[in-house]
Amino acid sequence: MASINNAYAGLSGNYLFSEVARRVSAYRQKHPETEVISLGIGDVSQPMIPAVIRALHKAVDEMACAETFRGYGPEQGYGFLREAILNHDFLPRGVNIRAEEIFISDGAKSDIGNFQELFGEDAVIALTDPVYPVYEDSNAMAGRAGTRENGRWNRIVYLPCTAANAFQPDLPSVRPDVIYLCSPNNPTGTVLDRSSLTAWVNYAREKESVILFDAAYEAFIQDDSLPRSIYEIPGADEVAVEFRSLSKTAGFTGLRCGYAVVPEKLTARTKDGRLLSLHDMWLRRQCTKYNGCPYIVQRAAEAVFQPEAGEELAAALAVYRDNARIMLDAFRRMGLSAFGGVHSPYVWLQTPKAMPSWDFFDLLLERAAVVCTPGAGFGVSGEGYARFTAFNSPENTKKALERLEKAL
Ligand code: MLT
Repeated sequence: MASINNAYAGLSGNYLFSEVARRVSAYRQKHPETEVISLGIGDVSQPMIPAVIRALHKAVDEMACAETFRGYGPEQGYGFLREAILNHDFLPRGVNIRAEEIFISDGAKSDIGNFQELFGEDAVIALTDPVYPVYEDSNAMAGRAGTRENGRWNRIVYLPCTAANAFQPDLPSVRPDVIYLCSPNNPTGTVLDRSSLTAWVNYAREKESVILFDAAYEAFIQDDSLPRSIYEIPGADEVAVEFRSLSKTAGFTGLRCGYAVVPEKLTARTKDGRLLSLHDMWLRRQCTKYNGCPYIVQRAAEAVFQPEAGEELAAALAVYRDNARIMLDAFRRMGLSAFGGVHSPYVWLQTPKAMPSWDFFDLLLERAAVVCTPGAGFGVSGEGYARFTAFNSPENTKKALERLEKAL
C-alpha cells in the first residue's frame, strides 16, 4: 500500500467552503421547495461585461483558423496581457514593476496555494487570524505547520485580528520567514492604510521576511489615498509578492484568471546562506508544473484592462458596493455590530448574544434559508462572527436581509 503525505492526516475534515456547501445541500434535500439565498462563498452574480464577451468570441474564432490558431502559450502568460495589466494596474499608481515580473495564472487561489512550495519545510509562517483558509491549509499540506490542537497549528505564528485591535494585525513578536497579508481583508473586510502597510514592509526588510500580499479585492477600495498595491510602499519590491485576481472585479470566478507579481529583486536564502531569486524559482516552478492560462481567457482578461471597459466594470462593482452598504445599514438597524463592507465586498458581523458561529450559521439556514460563512471557519479569532458577501443580486440581498431580520 502506498504511504501518504502524512500532513494530510492532520488537516481538518473539509475545506471551509466545501463544509458550508455540504450543509446547504443537506438542507436543500430536506426542503426542496425552499429558495436558499447564499451570502456565503464570494461568488459573483453579475454577468461578464460586453467587452469581455466580445473578446472571448473573437478569440474563439481565431482558434478556428490555421493562421490565428494558438497551441501552447508562454507559461508566464502572453505579453499582450502582462503589458495591459502593467499599464492599467501599476504604472498609473507610480509603481515601477516590469511586465516580466507579472505571471498570469488560472487564479489567485492557485498561485497563493502553490507559492509556499518555494520556501523551506522549516520556514516559519505568520498568518492573521481570522484568515483565508488557503494560506493555512496549503502550508499544513506541505508539512510546515506542525501539529494541530484546538484549531491552531503549533508551528504557525498567529496574528489575532479582533475588534480590540480594529482587525489590524500587530507585528509578530517571533520573527517569521513568510508573512501572509490580505488587504482589503478576507474575511473581515477591513483595509490596511499606508502607514500600517509601511510598517509591515519595513519590518520585513529588517527581518529578511517575505510578505505574500493578497490584493484580490483591491478594486473595492473607494478611498484613493489607501494603497491598492503593496508596491506603492517604497522598498516593497525587495520583500513582497503580490497576488491579484479577476474573479471578483470582472466576474471571472468561473472563467479563471489571476496574476502574481514576483519582483526580480526579491530573494531568499538557501540553507547554506546563498541568495536565490524567488522570481527565477517561480518561473522554474510554473514552467515545470503549469502550461499557462488558456489563450481565449487571456484575451478576455486583456479586455478588462482597456479604458473602454472601465464604465461597464464600474457598474458591476457599484452593484456589489451597494449591496454591502445595504447589509451594513440593515445590521446596524438590527442593533448588531458589523465591520468591513466599505472598501470590501465582505461584511464581518458579530453574532447576536455571542452565539457560536456554526450555531449562527445553522440557525440562519434553518430559520431563514440564508447562507453565511461562519467566522470560526477562518480561525479561532473568527469565533463569534459570521461573514456575509455582497456578491449576490440586489434583489436577493434585500430578500435575505428581510428574512434575517424576521429570524433573529
Ligand atoms: C471566498 O468566499 O472567500 C472566496 O470566494 C474564496 C475564493 O476566492 O477562493
